[in-house]
Amino acid sequence: MKKPLLLGVTAFCLCAFVTGDKSFPEKDGILQLQKGNFNRALKKYKQLLVHFYAPLTVQGYRATAAFEGAAAELQGSEVKLATVDVTKEKELAKELDAADQHTIRLYLSGDKLNPVSCPVPQSSASILTWLKRRAGSAADLITDLSQSEASEELTVVGYFKELNHEYVQMFYAAAIDLPDINFVVTQNDEVTSKYGLTHDVVLLLKKSKLIQAYRMTPQTSKEELIVFITVYQMDPVTEYNGQTVTQILSLPVLNHALLFVNKSSADFEEIFSAFNSAAEAFRLKILFVYVDVNELRNGRMMEYFRVRDFEAPLIRLVNLTDHVTYHLPSDTLNVENIKAFCQSYLEGKAKPKMQSEPIPEGWDEKPVKELVGMTLEKVGFNPDKTVFVLFYLPYSRASRALFPLWEELAEAFKHREDVVIARMDASANDINLSVQGAYPSLCLFPALYAERVVVYTGKRNVKDLLKFVDKEMEKAKKYRVKEDEDRRKYMEALQAEEAEKANKTKDEL
Ligand SMILES: *[C@@H]1O[C@H](CO)[C@@H](O)[C@H](O)[C@H]1NC(C)=O
Ligand SMILES: *[C@@H]1O[C@H](CO)[C@@H](O)[C@H](O)[C@H]1NC(C)=O
Ligand SMILES: *[C@@H]1O[C@H](CO)[C@@H](O)[C@H](O)[C@H]1NC(C)=O
Ligand SMILES: *[C@@H]1O[C@H](CO)[C@@H](O)[C@H](O)[C@H]1NC(C)=O
Repeated sequence: MKKPLLLGVTAFCLCAFVTGDKSFPEKDGILQLQKGNFNRALKKYKQLLVHFYAPLTVQGYRATAAFEGAAAELQGSEVKLATVDVTKEKELAKELDAADQHTIRLYLSGDKLNPVSCPVPQSSASILTWLKRRAGSAADLITDLSQSEASEELTVVGYFKELNHEYVQMFYAAAIDLPDINFVVTQNDEVTSKYGLTHDVVLLLKKSKLIQAYRMTPQTSKEELIVFITVYQMDPVTEYNGQTVTQILSLPVLNHALLFVNKSSADFEEIFSAFNSAAEAFRLKILFVYVDVNELRNGRMMEYFRVRDFEAPLIRLVNLTDHVTYHLPSDTLNVENIKAFCQSYLEGKAKPKMQSEPIPEGWDEKPVKELVGMTLEKVGFNPDKTVFVLFYLPYSRASRALFPLWEELAEAFKHREDVVIARMDASANDINLSVQGAYPSLCLFPALYAERVVVYTGKRNVKDLLKFVDKEMEKAKKYRVKEDEDRRKYMEALQAEEAEKANKTKDEL
């Protein structure tokens, strides 16, 4: 086993020796550029592919590996590879506008101002394909169709009547920007009979199956073609996880429908199936993604959208341009409701979900007080009042069924200054409490300084509710004596400290 290793070392040493040009330090055939030698390298190499990187960063890891792999393949070619460490070469990175990105750029004929950006590479093959397609033409893509058809990978087939048409140039421009996808150009009329299509279409094929076809029109832009290909490359619904997050966020579709669901729950299949069926009609407009609330790693995602696991299943739409979110107002997640929700969102008719609704006029005048995000904590965490809140979903029958009971309860406490009966729409306001059950949720805020919440789980009738309130009030009273004592001691200690400080100042005077 020793010999190959030794050979490898010798080869490396030789290589380092041969390319040891002092003005351009090299490592494994890659120029290490700095402010001092960047311009000279530009002059010397007609095609300079530069990786601007920050060492040891997670995002840059894949690009770095891809770049090094490509460098090995490109030894002795016309393209010279180079790197710039942006953490060291801050001034140069700023000058070239490459400061905080992992980018790979191709500088041509010494033109410092107009480099071409390489798409974020998946692997070294991405870079090589990109360079090859850039330098070539659509004619290079003409191959035997039957081979590509059988491929496990997605193949994008352009079926054109004339090869010198601008459709073909557009198709080829998309191919350059998507180097990780297999592209083929054909004029083979077999396509007509096989898929029942006429020419000037773009077909997406996978394992001999036609996934989707796109008819080119004079209005088609490269961007539209790229959206079409990248969207249909994915399944109608994508699970959110560590592997898919980059793809989800790099897709040029800026509306996302998010299904928060427990993948292990009994109704998962049914809900997923409805979500999946609804997705088809919105493919190019809304990206459908589901998030498993039973997966601990999705905690941050859920926190961001303020979704608690007990609230699942629920569907949110998010506009990635302005980051406004919308909540599907139904607890029946079937195809019809999901489609209607997406449609109303696209038409600008859906109601955004807010941190807090505005405070309703006369919110505290009726027996049942109407709370919103802004008033919840102020009203709830009051050391002198016992506050009982019904968190409801206005569209849910189970929630609405409790309204009369809540009125009755409020009536029973009408003359009690120390008790507040309230309710809050949990679908329109963000709630930031550590405890709380599934909706409708009945939560008591005892009259304490401590921010405490007790979830009621007993029978839903006035008698039991009254008993519960009384019992909790007794408990709170006892605890409150201790709280008052602690506060008294604390205040005394504070006063003593103040007095001591005052004495000291006096002494110093
Ligand atoms: C998801 O469902 C499973 C099976 O019903 C259950 O054991 C688990 O606790 C649920 N997880 C969450 C976060 O609700
Ligand atoms: C998303 O937000 C942008 C910016 O506010 C807006 O122009 C666009 O219409 C929104 N999209 C939808 C579907 O509401
Ligand atoms: C939610 O409450 C916790 C604890 O009270 C607090 O640290 C956090 O900042 C709150 N988050 C929001 C978004 O208000
Ligand atoms: C402050 O000074 C007065 C008189 O000098 C003394 O009686 C008192 O104990 C002092 N208080 C403290 C907190 O040191």
